[in-house]
Amino acid sequence: MSLKPQPIAGDVYWVGVNDDAKELFESLWPLPFGISYNAYAVVGRDTVALIDTVDKRYTYEYIGRIREVIEDFDRVRYIVVNHLEPDHHGATPDILKVMPKAKLVTSVMGSRILSSVYRVPSDRIFIVKDGDRIDLGGKTLRFIYTPWLHWPETMVTYLEEDRVLFSCDVFGSYGSLQDGIFDDEVDMNFYIDEARRYFSNIVIKYTRNVLEALEKLKGIEMRIIAPSHGPIYRSNPNRIVELYKRWAQSASERDRVLIIYGSMYGRGESIVEYIAEKLNREGLKISLHDVSTSHPSYILSDLVEACMAVFVYPSYDAGIFPYMEDVMRLLQLKQVGRGRFAAVVNTYAWGSTAKQAVELLTKAGFKVVEPVVETKAVPDEEGLKKIEALINSVVDVLKTGTAQPQ
Ligand SMILES: Cc1cc2nc3c(=O)[nH]c(=O)nc-3n(C[C@H](O)[C@H](O)[C@H](O)COP(=O)(O)O)c2cc1C
Ligand SMILES: [Fe+2]
Ligand SMILES: [Fe+2]
Repeated sequence: MSLKPQPIAGDVYWVGVNDDAKELFESLWPLPFGISYNAYAVVGRDTVALIDTVDKRYTYEYIGRIREVIEDFDRVRYIVVNHLEPDHHGATPDILKVMPKAKLVTSVMGSRILSSVYRVPSDRIFIVKDGDRIDLGGKTLRFIYTPWLHWPETMVTYLEEDRVLFSCDVFGSYGSLQDGIFDDEVDMNFYIDEARRYFSNIVIKYTRNVLEALEKLKGIEMRIIAPSHGPIYRSNPNRIVELYKRWAQSASERDRVLIIYGSMYGRGESIVEYIAEKLNREGLKISLHDVSTSHPSYILSDLVEACMAVFVYPSYDAGIFPYMEDVMRLLQLKQVGRGRFAAVVNTYAWGSTAKQAVELLTKAGFKVVEPVVETKAVPDEEGLKKIEALINSVVDVLKTGTAQPQ
């Protein structure tokens, strides 16, 4: 569905597009319900500023949207570049051609990327420092550096008179905008789930920077939060801010356990069922992911809420079961173990690979609880004892709350 441009405040318009064609965002993350590239136009008395643009594929649709809001493109003097990932600025080099008076407003780091990667000539770049303002005539834009959310050049833009924060990827969500563009027009249960998945796929490595940015934004009244993906928060902007705080603090629920497993012939799966049932009986909340069928995007998303991840997998050709190793390497890349515990059960026939798993998980930031279980897939008495001991220490760690993850 194609929504029309519409005002989000006086003389401020949503001019974004829906992308329902892309199957994998960044060629990695599934988009079963599409994604929106939100862009905005702020119309001042003297000049017009555009806030970000869109993916290259939607250049003409975007120009059409702008045309509905502004007749004379010469009035556009600024195109704000909050973040240079091509989902927001793939279209920008072509937009510069049809808006000859416009300059790209960017951070110092952004200007380097614009020159080197986008090859934008320096006379089309307008560098702003942290806290700088631009007056469009009755509309004042303030630029706030928020580095590493999730690239080094990222900033957010605050429209002072209307108290609108254009936050780009921060507070964004997967899912194209079908029923409306505002939080009070759409099913927020869906979008909050998709915002958490987006956070866990895109932003989670930079949780410290998220917390720093939230601290920096504390003194700013945000009447409307207008991110570059998903719904605009006008009825309850605080909700997404609080959720981000929780997700970024790894203030995960202490009683939530995620069991991530792989099993070729189902024997390891029986161990998973046994562990899940016992932990469940202890009052812990359990979610399960089979690495052979769950996309890592959803595993990451569920991990955001969990305090403990239990990994159960077989050895395979002297290594970790391949899809499990992929997941563990992704967790390492994203540093998702910080603030969380991990437990390991490796089933094997002639050679354990638990050591390799512990090393990967430790590098991912997890605190690995003892004992690390190495067992035959149909455990003998000794194997069963180790599994029982592991269940006890998982319960102990989560319930007593004395042990702290890194
Ligand atoms: C293709 C293949 C490769 C395997 N490689 C190893 C290995 O390198 N070391 C080992 O101890 N067991 C190896 N095994 C045996 C399994 O790891 C073992 O039987 C495991 O416990 C099976 O668990 P499951 O029933 O949950 O699939 C391999 C099995 C298969 C099918
Ligand atoms: Fe991005
Ligand atoms: Fe983005």
